[in-house]
Amino acid sequence: MALKISVIGTGYLGATHAACMASLGFDVVGIDVDPAKIALLSKGEIPFYEPGLDTLLAEQVKSGRLTFSSNFSDASSADVHFLCVGTPQVKDGLAADLTCVNASLEAIAGFAKAGSLVVGKSTVPVGTAARLRARLLELNPDSDLAWNPEFLREGFAVEDTLHPNRLVVGVTSDAAENILKDVYAANLAENTPWVRADLPTAELVKVAANSFLATKISFINAMAEICEAAGGDVTILAKAIGYDPRIGNRFLQAGIGFGGGCLPKDIRAFMARAEELGASQALEFLREIDSINIRARQRVIELVRRDLSEDLRGKKIAVLGAAFKPDSDDVRDSPALDIAVQIQAAGAHVTVHDPKAMEPAAKRFPVLNFAQTVEECLTGADIVLHLTEWKMYRELDPAALKAHVAQAIVIDGRNALDREKWLAAGWKFRALGRA
Ligand code: UDX
Repeated sequence: MALKISVIGTGYLGATHAACMASLGFDVVGIDVDPAKIALLSKGEIPFYEPGLDTLLAEQVKSGRLTFSSNFSDASSADVHFLCVGTPQVKDGLAADLTCVNASLEAIAGFAKAGSLVVGKSTVPVGTAARLRARLLELNPDSDLAWNPEFLREGFAVEDTLHPNRLVVGVTSDAAENILKDVYAANLAENTPWVRADLPTAELVKVAANSFLATKISFINAMAEICEAAGGDVTILAKAIGYDPRIGNRFLQAGIGFGGGCLPKDIRAFMARAEELGASQALEFLREIDSINIRARQRVIELVRRDLSEDLRGKKIAVLGAAFKPDSDDVRDSPALDIAVQIQAAGAHVTVHDPKAMEPAAKRFPVLNFAQTVEECLTGADIVLHLTEWKMYRELDPAALKAHVAQAIVIDGRNALDREKWLAAGWKFRALGRA
């Protein structure tokens, strides 16, 4: 008989995982403490933008295989409980806040049936899984706990969940590994690499991967700083080094740097944990990765001052992009919004446009102005900042847009616009890392 699955926490990760598991034929119940979210998901709707997930989730709800509940006891018949709750940065430090993970474990322990497996997917500080497993066995000795980190990217969440580039399972027994092999039978059939690890290694794989990705981005942004100082072009440099397969050309897009709900908080929590472990020196470099990343945001503001004036009061600034990256409406630690807010705080009048993230952005920063169209956003602007590389911005006609602005100056914060096209249309074109 097919396994029954529960997914605890129905945010980006949980909602996607639940819908994908149901699409593979499992009976799935998604549990969340937020009744409003559960009501929406039960209708087959999602409270955020993620390409393809809306259709998939609606289909699965309609099929009857996917249900949602705010009552933990509705997960009592499940064989596998995936723990997908958030682990944001604590308010007063760098560490991860484990309140939701701890509370969920306590709740699951109360109803998990004999022989069931709790599988952590949330990104946690190393050592958490072993602690949670000990607690689970204390409360519910007939169950077990494994760790199975999730590597999905927003914007590609469904594809990454259904066809991950690897599956990492931290287990303490063959029985636990075998249950996970049943869950991921479809992936094993398509030869997805399967990595069995102990609990701490499985936890570390996730933060190590995100630290590496963050390092790649900050590396190229450091090269951008050097290119600016030396009169070089970081986009050509990135292309050239990327041809070396040991380096690779992905994640070398220089610009305003990384944001979102994962990379920034994960590298900080990793540093905090290393310090607790007495190994802080090993991750000292991540402090520099974080600083380079924050500096990239400042460098855009410096460019604005250089082109307009030191004093930004009264200047009209158009910002294209609010999401932390394209194909997402996520504005958590969005570099684009951070820059917009800082410029607004300096006395400028900032108007923001984004094809999907306007509502969450306005909710978070009501002090900013928002425009429904690109043209409206650019009207009367002294400078245009391109800060999230949505496809629609790359396809804009710079010649037609010129009529709307007060001054035709654009700063490409993502090195994604066609510079020649904008120059030919008579724009002054600035970009990070390009002389
Ligand atoms: C990331 C990891 O990629 C994923 O594996 C993990 O599970 C969660 O964290 P995500 O947060 O969705 O995924 O975004 P990602 O695509 O990694 O981009 C992160 C940030 O880096 C974005 O702000 C993006 O704009 C920026 N970025 C990415 C760059 O500035 N340059 C690049 O070359 C690539």
